[in-house]
Amino acid sequence: MNQHRSLVAGLLAALVFAPLLCAPLLCAQDFKKQVIYQIVTDRFFDGDTTNDNPSESPGLYDSTRTNWFAYWGGDLAGIQQKMAYIQGLGATAIWISPTVNNENSSMNTSSVSAPYHGYDARDFMQVEEHFGDNANDWTAFNNLISAAHANNIKVILDWANNHSNYNAAGEKGALYNNGTLMASAGNDPTGIFHHNPDIADYNDRYQLQYYTLSGLTDLNQENSTVDSYLKSAAELFQSHGVDAFRLDALKHATWGWEYSFANAIYNNKPTFLFGEWIDSTSDALYHDAYKFANRSGISELDFGVNGAMRDVFGSNHNFSELDGVIATENSNFTSPNDLVTFFDSHDESRLLTMNNNRNRLQEAMAFLITCRGIPVILYGDEQYLHNDTNNGNDPYNRVAMTPTSFNTTSTAYKLIGKLAGLRKANDALGYGTWRQRWINNDVYIYERQFFNDVVLVAINKNDSTAQNISRLFTSLPAGTYADYLGGLQSGVPLTVTSGSGDNNPANSVSLPAHSVSVWQVSSAATAPEVGSIGPTVGQPGMQVTIAGDGFGSARGSVKVNGTTATITSWSNISVSFTVPNIASGNYTVQLANSQGALANSIQFSVLTARLIPVTFTVNNATPTGPGDYIFLTGNTVELGNWGTTFDTAVGPMLDPNYPNWFLNVSVPAGQSIQFKFIKIAASGTITWENGANHSYTVPTSGTGSVNVTWQN
Ligand code: NOJ
Ligand code: NOJ
Repeated sequence: MNQHRSLVAGLLAALVFAPLLCAPLLCAQDFKKQVIYQIVTDRFFDGDTTNDNPSESPGLYDSTRTNWFAYWGGDLAGIQQKMAYIQGLGATAIWISPTVNNENSSMNTSSVSAPYHGYDARDFMQVEEHFGDNANDWTAFNNLISAAHANNIKVILDWANNHSNYNAAGEKGALYNNGTLMASAGNDPTGIFHHNPDIADYNDRYQLQYYTLSGLTDLNQENSTVDSYLKSAAELFQSHGVDAFRLDALKHATWGWEYSFANAIYNNKPTFLFGEWIDSTSDALYHDAYKFANRSGISELDFGVNGAMRDVFGSNHNFSELDGVIATENSNFTSPNDLVTFFDSHDESRLLTMNNNRNRLQEAMAFLITCRGIPVILYGDEQYLHNDTNNGNDPYNRVAMTPTSFNTTSTAYKLIGKLAGLRKANDALGYGTWRQRWINNDVYIYERQFFNDVVLVAINKNDSTAQNISRLFTSLPAGTYADYLGGLQSGVPLTVTSGSGDNNPANSVSLPAHSVSVWQVSSAATAPEVGSIGPTVGQPGMQVTIAGDGFGSARGSVKVNGTTATITSWSNISVSFTVPNIASGNYTVQLANSQGALANSIQFSVLTARLIPVTFTVNNATPTGPGDYIFLTGNTVELGNWGTTFDTAVGPMLDPNYPNWFLNVSVPAGQSIQFKFIKIAASGTITWENGANHSYTVPTSGTGSVNVTWQN
């Protein structure tokens, strides 16, 4: 009995003190200083030949690696075996393709077409046999996690909440819960799936969320079985050590539901979430994209920077395009340093296919790792791999690493390593501001700054002409700066003289053709400096991490809107606290060191309670004209705190059954909420419905629905 008690007490103590043991760079909630290496598992390294052609799903493997739609043998054991190579590159996290148990048969009868990429799930509770073992067991997965963590590398799992597998071929959408069939596209008595046509209009919010994405059987997240299945499955992978998730097709699952998914996953374990919302800053739904990132707690892959980088470094567009996109996004996203940046991916042709010029690739790589946002390097780019068949489009961008392509001496490999080191050493890259300092068509000079930490980068992408820069100003203090890359990409030194502090003149400098120069300074903070908070939204009781520098080793305090929070861990660069029990709202968080010196404050949204997805329907909300939308607003932060703007109210609602409108919204569990529907006209005019507020008591678990009529 006593022994049992002390065992329990020991376990409790281990749980309670676990945050104290979390080395700051391993704390999962701050990803801003990370460098991510993206791996298509099947195409990386075959570490276990016994799973190449597993008996559960035989015949999908091509040992000759000539059928690009077949499995080629790469697996979790292979990634594990190459961990030293990944660490040597400077990556601090790997993003691996979905590892859930996949569709078992070919999508084609004439030739093999297999889900080697992982996006066609059949069972989210198990590991795919081609990546692990024939029992769909966890051994290989657990081993990979252990090896990664032993090398201080985090594991980001690609996770597709939107769909199972193809509705018209193979297993026709069949979805299992740890081996038990739930439903398929043609046999779905309980509404596990939506049964709508393929998305035709990518500017239609209803189609995006409720129609079918290219034939992939569309999950109905509002169904309470699906809701708990997806959340439990992701939590299962968290319990096996997953540090973060890349959410596939973020724009295509139900947006309101995704807020509750994020809330569940953040509550289960400290983590970081980012998702795939394909767009550009001129996209019709760009406003929806940044509203979602700013409010859901889910960051996004930076498709704006992706498009501009490919134009600039791949198609030789002017740097002004990239500069413009960054300025726009920086003004719209609350936390641009959390955006996840990339120029190549498993869905696009590789940059070297667009422009077979290694200098340009290296310039793009240097830009990527010094840009604001968290950089992703696609596996193989460090080895200049590309296959130009069909313009290098999917699947020809998913090239195989070969035994000889793990070369640790390539220029790109070394350049990535150096800059990844700088991301760790100089907080300006992870936490700093962004400032353009000089620009023309081929030259871009930009500065990152976090208090006294400064990184100034100058890129000249011209093939043959040097550029003389005679009027350059910087926040670097007076002094002479060597190129941090040591000339790896033809960089040069810079001399700065004294000026007005953040506008010190540099001596004129000539940037050679195809050069990248990186000049930097950093010093230990003498006062508390906050660079990050994560997650950005959560209810009382949730664990939140603030990161930065100069917090001191002795405990100070953290206040959320003036209320003192309980500190759960404290180090000079990372502090975790519990969200205090205060009313919901968008607040500032204020850290002070043990002497009471205040840091800069940072924004955080306190939710009322854990989130439950509820479908709100308002009937007969009419009349409306083109571009007029119905929104929901109400008395908690989840409902917009009675806000009446596009950014503050909840919506736009969806009207496939006009004049009835509906929207799935995540609202606080167990709370009695007050709300109304409003019309926001294209002209900006607000029309409130009449009468008393609607009220509703949110269920404490599962999902809910509300159905009312617009009060005239
Ligand atoms: C986007 C992924 O990145 C892509 O590779 C995949 O095919 C689709 N989503 C569907 O899951
Ligand atoms: C359909 C309605 O018919 C139209 O009048 C309205 O403008 C749109 N939905 C969007 O508000």
